Amino acid sequence: MLLPTIDPTTTKAWKALHNHFTCIKDAYLKDFFANNSDRASDFSILWKDFYVDYSKNRIDKTTKNLLIDLAKEVKLDQSIQEYFAGSKINNTEKRAVLHTALRTPSDAVIRVNGTNIVPEISVVKEEIKAFSQNIITGKLKGHTGKAFTDVVNIGIGGSDLGPLMITEALAFYKNHLNLHFISNVDGDHLHQKLKELNPETTLFIIVSKTFTTQETLFNATTAREWLVNQSSPQAVIKHFVAVSSSIEKVTDFGISEEYIFPLWDWVGGRFSLWSAVGLSISLAIGYDNFQELLDGAHEMDEHFKNTSFEENIPVILGLLSLWYTNFFKAETEVVIPYAHYLHRLPSYLQQAVMESNGKNVDRNGKPITYQTGGIIWGEPGTNAQHAFFQLIHQGTKLIPAEFIGFKHSLFQDKKHHNALMANFFAQTEALMNGKTATQITKELSCDASHPLVPFKVFKGNNPSTTILIDKLTPKNLGALIAMYEHRIFVQGVVWNIYSYDQWGVELGKQLATTILSEIKTNQIHQHDPSTSALLKRFLER
Ligand code: F6P
Repeated sequence: MLLPTIDPTTTKAWKALHNHFTCIKDAYLKDFFANNSDRASDFSILWKDFYVDYSKNRIDKTTKNLLIDLAKEVKLDQSIQEYFAGSKINNTEKRAVLHTALRTPSDAVIRVNGTNIVPEISVVKEEIKAFSQNIITGKLKGHTGKAFTDVVNIGIGGSDLGPLMITEALAFYKNHLNLHFISNVDGDHLHQKLKELNPETTLFIIVSKTFTTQETLFNATTAREWLVNQSSPQAVIKHFVAVSSSIEKVTDFGISEEYIFPLWDWVGGRFSLWSAVGLSISLAIGYDNFQELLDGAHEMDEHFKNTSFEENIPVILGLLSLWYTNFFKAETEVVIPYAHYLHRLPSYLQQAVMESNGKNVDRNGKPITYQTGGIIWGEPGTNAQHAFFQLIHQGTKLIPAEFIGFKHSLFQDKKHHNALMANFFAQTEALMNGKTATQITKELSCDASHPLVPFKVFKGNNPSTTILIDKLTPKNLGALIAMYEHRIFVQGVVWNIYSYDQWGVELGKQLATTILSEIKTNQIHQHDPSTSALLKRFLER
């Protein structure tokens, strides 16, 4: 079955939300709390180690009910079934979307084209486990008999951002292996890294689902040349591993078949960290921790699949974000983790969210008349407070904010953690309450005509959601990332778009290939005058 193709704006709920919006748009969060002493518990969800407080959002019970009606009218429940069952919901590529299968228990049955895919997932997991253990313990060695000390993941997009974000986030659980990530085709990125590495003790993992991605092939080729120049062509077989769905292309590159970890077409690049794409994660933190990450994601999958929409974290968060995008016309959303370990989370989410839901054609192939996608950005708190919070507090834009924090720190330095979390709580309070002219005149012991008063007013009423998690463990991180994946799905279903293709990245790639051959041959063909002038200037080097 395919996903339904309902234009959300034609639903009863959308129209009702539209009318409701005009009543609620100027309402104050402070008043919502004043009028409902149970608001904090009415608008929060406690699930395992997660406490999700969405009470500081510009919604009331009617908003929540109407948003849920909307989800029901566009058949979100049926779509969730199709998603988990392996229906080809990535219709433009005729593929199932089954990253959830990668974290399902080994006795589950999930069929693609009639074949249960779970046994083959288990086989690859065993391979990841054995390989990780052999590298970590030093059983597998480099070409001169030395144990590996450094692992370089070469990949881009989903073949980089997920493993990079997770290995940074779980650095506390890391072993002795040094992890490096090379993604950009910018040679300075690669050469700077190679300068620091020892060819005798460096393992390269080439991660590319297609094994056609220009950046990855350039970097892999240069890394191979570097290794061969420093040792011998025979070294490649011991130092290069690949993760790909194209076995033939990888063997053509010179990587031994026993060092290829397969990927399936039902794993989308930006959702692939749970597969062998996560090999660098398993190497960095050990397979058991990697399995914990998968288990946490699976628990979130079960929550998403089996919980009523009213208490369903990805559903509620997805609908809230849609409420701001489509009704308040918010242009961006900020994610602020109060954990420095999560410093790569916003850039990881940028690909997950924006590559998935940045679409302007609906599932009927018709141009869309409403906003889709969401522009995600962010930095860890408290650094963010000293950078862009000014604009969130006193700028002219409405920017819904998501705060992620942990009850316990990993090094258990209470002094620091209390200070960090005091900021975490203070910011959401400040965003909501703001500061009135009366408070300021009191503080300055002046009257309302004091020239500084208007500059010091914080209008407040800025929405935020707070996700408070017990501790940054592999399991909780797995659940958090799965939560975002499902939230993307929820929004894609309601927006009536295909979230799992990415045709929009193709044109630039094609043009770059043409331009590169023009640069190589020093012959500029027909371009617009601006591009021609730029290329001419570049070739004057
Ligand atoms: O260009 C976008 C993209 O296709 C992403 O979706 C993907 O994660 C990335 O490129 C890398 O692709 P591959 O793993 O095939 O090299």
